[in-house]
Order: sequence, then structure tokens, then C-alpha cells
Amino acid sequence: MTDDTTAAGAAGPGRVPAQPITLRVGEHGVSATGSLYDRIGGAPTFDRLVRRFYEGVQQDDVIWPMYPADDLEGAVWRLSAFLQQYWGGPGTYSEERGHPRLRMRHQPFRITSEARERWLHHMHEAVESLGLAPLDEAELWAYLDRAAHAMTNTFD
Ligand code: HEM
Repeated sequence: MTDDTTAAGAAGPGRVPAQPITLRVGEHGVSATGSLYDRIGGAPTFDRLVRRFYEGVQQDDVIWPMYPADDLEGAVWRLSAFLQQYWGGPGTYSEERGHPRLRMRHQPFRITSEARERWLHHMHEAVESLGLAPLDEAELWAYLDRAAHAMTNTFD
């Protein structure tokens, strides 16, 4: 079958399908197409993002009190694994934690517009620290901004 993801030579019955094209960042670099997870460097990039995010959160007197200070490594794993899964990486988050149901899981926390803006501030610093390609950064950021607005559950 012809498929838009394969580089077809002359179309027609009996042709041998060509290999899918993979654009790479450099000769042996990561794929420049496919999932955002692959494009930005997979698990290590998400771990860097989330660790940097929590460095900021730990300095924050509004939102840090909501987080489990005695289980920061657990929190790092949960957010990183979720984001990896969302962006096309392994489904380990749901294997361990079930369906994300993020709005429900955030119900115990008072997420006011102030808390959301603090969260977004630390996440923005973390995203910028990665030095991603502009389109990848814009795609990742648009999602995080929208998701953080959706998580707001306390309006005063
Ligand atoms: C809007 C501001 C937000 C605040 C104040 C907030 C706060 C929190 C807190 C206090 C926790 C518990 C930490 C833990 O034990 O893992 C948590 C968990 C989590 N948050 Fe948020 N969050 C916000 C937005 C978001 C957004 C936008 C996402 C996704 C894009 C997200 C994804 C998660 C995930 C995946 C977990 C772990 C859920 C679990 O498996 O238990 N959060 N959040």
C-alpha cells in the first residue's frame, strides 16, 4: 500500500516500497521528525526539564507547600513520566499510575490563578533552559500553558 510516510518511487503495482525517510539533527543525531519526545531527545530531556522545574518550585513560598517535600524524587518521576507518555514516549506512567485524570488528581490542591502563574513561571524557566528548536519549544509551551489553565480549580 502507498502510504504518505514512505518515500514512494514510481507508483504502480509491484513496486518495492521505499524505506520511510528519517530526518536527523546531524549525521547520527536524534530524529527531526516523528514524536516531540524523540525530537527533543527523549527521557533525559524530560528529566532535565522536570528537575529544573522543581528547583524553581522549591524556592516558591506559594506552591512549594503543596508538594511532598519528603518525596521529591517521586514527584519528579511522576511529572516526567507523564510528560514523556503524553509526547509519544513510553507508556510507563499509566502502567504505574493508571489513567492520568489530572484534573481529578489536582482537586486536593487549591490551584488559584496565582498558583497557576507561579507554576507556569517555573515551568517557563525550565523549558527555556533546554534550548530547544523554536517550533518544538512553542509546541511544548502551548500545551503546558493550556494544561495549567485547565488545572485551575479555585477562583477567587
Ligand atoms: C497549574 C498549576 C499546578 C499546580 C499548582 C500543580 C500542583 C501539583 C501538586 C502539588 C502535585 C503533587 C505532587 C506529586 O506528589 O506528584 C501535582 C502532581 C502532578 N501534576 Fe501538577 N500542578 C499544576 C499543573 C500541572 C500541569 C499543567 C500538569 C500537566 C501538564 C501537571 C501534571 C502533574 C502530574 C502528572 C502529577 C502527578 C500525578 C500523579 O500521578 O499522582 N500539573 N501537581
